Amino acid sequence: MKKIGIDNVAALGGSVNLAEVEALKPAAVEAAELLESGKGAGNDFLGWLHLPGSITDAELASIEATAARLRQDCEFVIAIGIGGSYLGAKAVIDALSDSFAAYKSGKGPKVVFAGNNIGEDYTAELMDLVKGHRFGIIVISKSGTTTEPAIAFRLFKELLEQQEGKEFASRHIVAITDAHRGALRSLATQEGYDTYVIPDNVGGRFSVLTPVGLLPIAVAGFDIRELVAGAVDIEKGDNEMMYTYAQTRNALYRAGKKIEILVNFCPKLHNLAEWWKQLYGESEGKDGKGIFPASVDFTTDLHSMGQWIQDGERTIFETVLTVGEPALEVVIPTDDADLDGLNYIAGKRVDQVNKMAELGTRLAHVDGGVPNMVISIPALTERYIGQLLYFFEKACGISGYMLGVNPFNQPGVEAYKKNMFALLGKPGYEEATRAINARLGK
Ligand code: PA5
Repeated sequence: MKKIGIDNVAALGGSVNLAEVEALKPAAVEAAELLESGKGAGNDFLGWLHLPGSITDAELASIEATAARLRQDCEFVIAIGIGGSYLGAKAVIDALSDSFAAYKSGKGPKVVFAGNNIGEDYTAELMDLVKGHRFGIIVISKSGTTTEPAIAFRLFKELLEQQEGKEFASRHIVAITDAHRGALRSLATQEGYDTYVIPDNVGGRFSVLTPVGLLPIAVAGFDIRELVAGAVDIEKGDNEMMYTYAQTRNALYRAGKKIEILVNFCPKLHNLAEWWKQLYGESEGKDGKGIFPASVDFTTDLHSMGQWIQDGERTIFETVLTVGEPALEVVIPTDDADLDGLNYIAGKRVDQVNKMAELGTRLAHVDGGVPNMVISIPALTERYIGQLLYFFEKACGISGYMLGVNPFNQPGVEAYKKNMFALLGKPGYEEATRAINARLGK
């Protein structure tokens, strides 16, 4: 079985040397041991660590059966959730889907996402899209109280009940939430929805391999067994790849490289980077520390961000996701007139050009003082995406401990909520409402 791989040699590019990266090996090993021992900070959120290998056949079969029912009965399935309760599913579905699936008819429902923003136009347009069509809802919230998905769920639940009746709605709404707590759990019990549990000890951003990610991915028609098998490949292997990544990025950070840009040359990976940004951003950005995770889609963004990356402030490094083999083939044709001057690449596959753009960019960026390491993915399949997800998760735990933070909490995300609730006059926030109004001179 082939695996994803990592190459950090190019990363060095003069900023740090291999010896400096290697010097961090003991710290990486110690961090991994701390993770395994369950004695580190945030140790009540380590359920993801041995999750892939412990998912049972019965759990997968149940998710597949629910997905099959939604696939059979629905034209659309709306996955409602935010942050860790949606990014993993979106990342995997986009990585594996036809880029134009939304415009093509195909087998099974279209999976669409809601509750990950509070945009009124977005919400209205999605309501308009599903109006008059049979749709199902997967509502995902670990706390069961997050405002964005709660608003979306209230709206789409009402629409579904009005359109199809309460009985259809209760058979085509699936809730994924805490085993016992939260408004969503109470609602699901009262309405008799099918439910799946997000384990207590798995935080949102580490939950893609629980029903949170697996159910929407299965509804989209992808093989969740292969996805999990990919994660198990890495879980059961050694830690070398995770060490290399965690050591290299920590060495670069210590050398002043404060921003890591996850680069892809394949547009299907755009949302994989969004998932990765949450994973690393929420895990490491605290206590005044942490690499800022950013992302670009190349070659698209070479025509927008390329200048900054090549010549701007030298506080960045890149991690390039490189995909071995595209699934499809397009060859550049010869043109007799050659007015566009492209005959020199006629007969080549588009991907050959893309790969030279990739290599040329990496070399140029190293020359410009931007170290870059490479993570290679043999192909965009469930198996390799599963490997990649678990690789990033485990490397994140190791890297966070090396940085000296608790990688499994996110105290900072509460600040905006407190202000929003105070501004909206939520019951229980009266004191905060008075304070914020005074601050705003009201
Ligand atoms: O990683 C996290 O914990 C967060 O991003 C949550 O997933 C996000 O805030 C959504 O929370 P919940 O699933 O409780 O609605």
